[in-house]
Amino acid sequence: MPTTPGLGETARAIIADGMGILAADETVSTITKRLTARAIESTADSRRAYRELLFSTPGIAEFIGGVIMQDETIRQDSAEGIPLVDLLAGRGIIPGIKVDAGVRPLAGAPGEFVTEGLDGLRERLEEYRELGARFAKWRAVFTIRDGRPSAPCIHANAHALARYAALCQEQGLVPIVEPEVLMEGAHALERCEDVTGRVLQAVFNELFAARVSLEGMLLKPNMITAGHGSARQASVEEVAEATLRVLTRHVPPAVPGIVFLSGGQDPVLATEHLNAINALEGPKPWTLSFSYGRALQDEALEAWAGRSEQVPAAQRMFHHRAWCDSAAALGTYSE
Ligand code: 13P
Repeated sequence: MPTTPGLGETARAIIADGMGILAADETVSTITKRLTARAIESTADSRRAYRELLFSTPGIAEFIGGVIMQDETIRQDSAEGIPLVDLLAGRGIIPGIKVDAGVRPLAGAPGEFVTEGLDGLRERLEEYRELGARFAKWRAVFTIRDGRPSAPCIHANAHALARYAALCQEQGLVPIVEPEVLMEGAHALERCEDVTGRVLQAVFNELFAARVSLEGMLLKPNMITAGHGSARQASVEEVAEATLRVLTRHVPPAVPGIVFLSGGQDPVLATEHLNAINALEGPKPWTLSFSYGRALQDEALEAWAGRSEQVPAAQRMFHHRAWCDSAAALGTYSE
C-alpha cells in the first residue's frame, strides 16, 4: 500500500506535542438542543458567536491542533468579518469538517443505524478543501443490546467508513475514522471491550480492502467503559487498561494517532481516563490524544450562558479544560 505524502504530515501536526482536537461539529439540531437546554436562543448568529468564542480563546492553539466544524460554521464569518476557517488557520489550528449526513435506520436490522452521506461526497470534499478544510470526520454509531450490534450493522458501517476514508485521501484530506460504540445501556465493561474489538477489527479490514493509507488517517474511538446504566462503573485504571488492550489488539501501529471521543463522560473523568491511558507502561505505538466535544465544551457553555459579558469567563473555562486534556495527552496531568 503506498503512503500518501502530505496526509501523514497533517495527521501528525494535528496531534503534535500534546495537542488534540476540539470537536465543534454538532449539527444545527444538536447544538440547538445544547443551547436551548441552557435557555440560549439558537440562531445562526448565536451559533456563530458561540463557535467564535471557542476558536478565539487566547492561548488555545497551544493545546488544540485541529477543530472539527460542520457545514454552517465553515461558511460563517467572525463578528469582524473574518471567515472562521481563516481565524483558525491564522492561529495555526488546522480546520476540519464533518462530512457524514447522519444516521438512518438500517434496513433489515431493527433498532440499528447506518451512517449515510457517500452520494456526492467527492464533490463535497472538493468544495470543503477549497474552503480551507484539511481533514474530515465521519461517525458511525453502534448500540449494545442483546444481539447488537449485529454483523450486518458492523459490516455496513465499517464499509461506509472505508469508502469515506478512501475518498478523503483521494481529495487530499486526512480522514478521521470514528466508529463509536455508545455508552447507553447497562452492559459491563467486558461487553464494551468485546464489541469495540469486533468493530475495530471490521473497520481495519475494510480500510485495508479499500486501500486506505493508515499513515494518513486518525482513528477516533470510544474508550472502554461500562454502560451508563450499569450499577458497577469501572475504575479509571480499569478503563485505561481495557482501552489500551483493545487498541493493541486491533489497531495497526501504522496509524499515527488515536483521538478519543468523550461520549458523554464527565469532563474531569474524560481527562483522567486519557491521562491514565498515557501513563500505562507498555508499548503505545500511536499518539493517544483527544477529540472531545462535550467534555471540552460543557463547562464553557455553562459559563457563557449566551451573555457577551461572560465571554472571558467562558474562555477561561475552555482554556483550563484544554490545558488539562493536553497534559493528559502527555500523561502528565495531575490535579
Ligand atoms: P463527544 O466528545 O461529545 O462524544 O463528541 C465527539 C464527537 O465528535 C462525536 O461525534
